[in-house]
Amino acid sequence: MRLTVIGTGFVGVVTSAVFAKFGNQVIGLDIDESKIATLNDGHAPFFEPQLDDLLQEALAAKTLTFTTDYQQAISEAQVIFIAVGTPSAPDGTADLRYVELATKAMAPHLKDGTIVALKSTVPPGTSNKVREILVSNTNKIFYVASLPEFLKEGSAVYDTLNPDRVVIGATEPQVIETLLQLHEPLSGKRIIISPESAQMAKYSANAYLAQRITFINQIANLCEKNGANIQEVIQAIGADARIGNHYWYPGLGYGGSCFPKDVKELAAYARSVGEADSLLVKIDELNDARIFNKMQEFGEAIGGFAGKSIAILGLSFKPNTNDMREAPSLKVIPYLLEQGATITAHDPQAMEEAKALLEGITYAADAYEAAKGAQVIMLLVEWSQLTNLDLRKLKARSNKQCCFIDTRNQYDPKLVVQAGFTYVGIGMKQVRL
Ligand code: UGA
Repeated sequence: MRLTVIGTGFVGVVTSAVFAKFGNQVIGLDIDESKIATLNDGHAPFFEPQLDDLLQEALAAKTLTFTTDYQQAISEAQVIFIAVGTPSAPDGTADLRYVELATKAMAPHLKDGTIVALKSTVPPGTSNKVREILVSNTNKIFYVASLPEFLKEGSAVYDTLNPDRVVIGATEPQVIETLLQLHEPLSGKRIIISPESAQMAKYSANAYLAQRITFINQIANLCEKNGANIQEVIQAIGADARIGNHYWYPGLGYGGSCFPKDVKELAAYARSVGEADSLLVKIDELNDARIFNKMQEFGEAIGGFAGKSIAILGLSFKPNTNDMREAPSLKVIPYLLEQGATITAHDPQAMEEAKALLEGITYAADAYEAAKGAQVIMLLVEWSQLTNLDLRKLKARSNKQCCFIDTRNQYDPKLVVQAGFTYVGIGMKQVRL
């Protein structure tokens, strides 16, 4: 099939590369010339495991090209994916300006019968907006569908190749047929629903996962007050098949480019339809306040951060990505600097990105270098390079008195203490020798 993907962010590039791998003729379209040049060279404009290999394979097989030219990209396309960004407006609603611009720009070049599929995360009702814009700008026959994406950064290629489900939000039988055919090589249950249901499903999935994280963080807070250990609690409640023990390790709250934004957008959408008093608002508030609250508690546990030398391990919002959007480091480090601490930080992939956002700190080539003379070591992100450290070697580099703050509960507190540290985790009592 001839496909065009508008937008070269995570979703757009991964979608382009995966469909090209299956032998479709894919054109990736973006208005950013430097991104297009990088992509045509076989490199994603961000770090994502396996993606460059996939891009290079498809470029070499000539099933994939990238361009800034709408006429070239749209005129032959049978399916056009809109995968542009939908940032939140200041009031929390989804800012649909890029969706609208892309729709307007494609309209004059459409051919009869093209399917325009929304992959960007958008509020229910957006398909109608897209349809209205197209009707005012073309006489051609077209169809609008919604194909929400459920990939995670850091495992985007794997998730796209192995989805749990393929959600097709469409009503016309021939559109459903074409989209089923397109997704044929992918595993996962097919779920065929209306575009509005597909859009609600996308927001609800993210909001549910975000509330699950917020819930376990709240329970972790209670464990810290009563001597229970959150990891043991998860083990016990997770054994209930209705609940499960996956996807709710506690920490400093959820970050990234999706959950914070999508929870706010769904809350704003709820408000706009008269549901102001929503659980979503509370989830968002609790998550927003969490880092500050935890930092205060950590500070109290170690006798304050002022004048302390602190090693920060992990700067990205999660492992296997250099994405810094809503990364805990962006709140933690300014807080520590304000308290009068000195910071040395390391991240396996995101240091260049961090340098543009975080000033007044030193960057280290690895965790051991970051730990030199440190009075506090704070693990912020569970990169595999940071969760298997030689604790004795780390201790030998650090200050004689050093506290290890494990905001991801990645280390066995006993082993950390045996190596000579004081241990502070999430959802458990501080551990000393
Ligand atoms: C999330 C969803 O998981 C994807 O299904 C969805 O497609 C994507 O948003 C999107 O809407 O595009 P992503 O933001 O890449 O994916 O990352 P996750 O791995 O889900 O993590 C999100 C945040 O939650 C991170 O800050 C992570 O550290 C945190 N988290 C995750 C926890 O604190 N505990 C957990 O158990 C899991």
